[in-house]
Amino acid sequence: MADLSINIAGLQFKNPVTTASGTFGYGDEFTEFIDLGRLGGIFVKAVTGKNRNGNAYPRMAETPSGMLNSVGLQNKGVDHFCREIYPKIMNFDTHIIVNVSGSTVEEYVEVAERINELEKVPAIELNISCPNVKLGGMAFGTVPSMATEVTAAVRKVYKKVLMVKLSPNVTSITDLAKAVADGGADVITLINTLLGMSIDAEQRRPVLSTITGGLSGPAIKPVALRMVWQVHKAVNIPIVGLGGIMNATDAIEFILAGASAIQVGTANFIDPMISVKIVDGIEDYLNSHQIGSLPELVGALRTE
Ligand code: FUM
Repeated sequence: MADLSINIAGLQFKNPVTTASGTFGYGDEFTEFIDLGRLGGIFVKAVTGKNRNGNAYPRMAETPSGMLNSVGLQNKGVDHFCREIYPKIMNFDTHIIVNVSGSTVEEYVEVAERINELEKVPAIELNISCPNVKLGGMAFGTVPSMATEVTAAVRKVYKKVLMVKLSPNVTSITDLAKAVADGGADVITLINTLLGMSIDAEQRRPVLSTITGGLSGPAIKPVALRMVWQVHKAVNIPIVGLGGIMNATDAIEFILAGASAIQVGTANFIDPMISVKIVDGIEDYLNSHQIGSLPELVGALRTE
């Protein structure tokens, strides 16, 4: 039997399959569908310094092969997370990784400092790539100097595994990857959503209240694969890949491109059991190709 476990920046994952922030709640909503202990980890919904009500409705739209969202980082703030949510999820038998978001460097630092105190959270994902907020979010993830600054500021206060989630809405993804590596990131997660829009021709109006939103789902997979592959060649830190992963074959493609682990996002809305099916599918692939352990496959794309 193949060994699916993998060590990422000193953190041991039982397998490479995790769920993407904003698509899996805090995990507890999924316990009636799957055994969370079968997953490598759960990236829980974004946490900011204070309560955020999110953007006005409509803020989701289906598109061919994808989905647009402009939720706007809705959450009840870090106090609420630490007091009300953490005690309910802290004993899940999988890694709980918190997506840390903010509008200013100070807010990112404040949230990261609070999450650092939570014993059962071994890592954070610094979200410098949300396309749906007026302040912060993607603004930090599209300018290399700002990406370095916020990563370095959080690095000073956050003592565990620091992951940074990159935006694909840039000219050079490798420049951003190098910028966060320079700031002290341990791991890069990529990609967040692509900025897009949808129009109702009858109404002559945008479908989303915010006009633009973030595109996810199978439509973005080729872009995500290309970026994972480029970053894997450019930066010597582990990658968690995401973007349109719908099945185990998609996950294997990301691993071949250089991802040490993957996140399942939009697919959770279609099939709440898909993440566990992907674990099984990766195991079948390794067994049928006589690959003894997952790290053998990371970045094993043949290009010559
Ligand atoms: O709008 C949102 O809450 C999306 C967040 C993200 O893409 O990071």
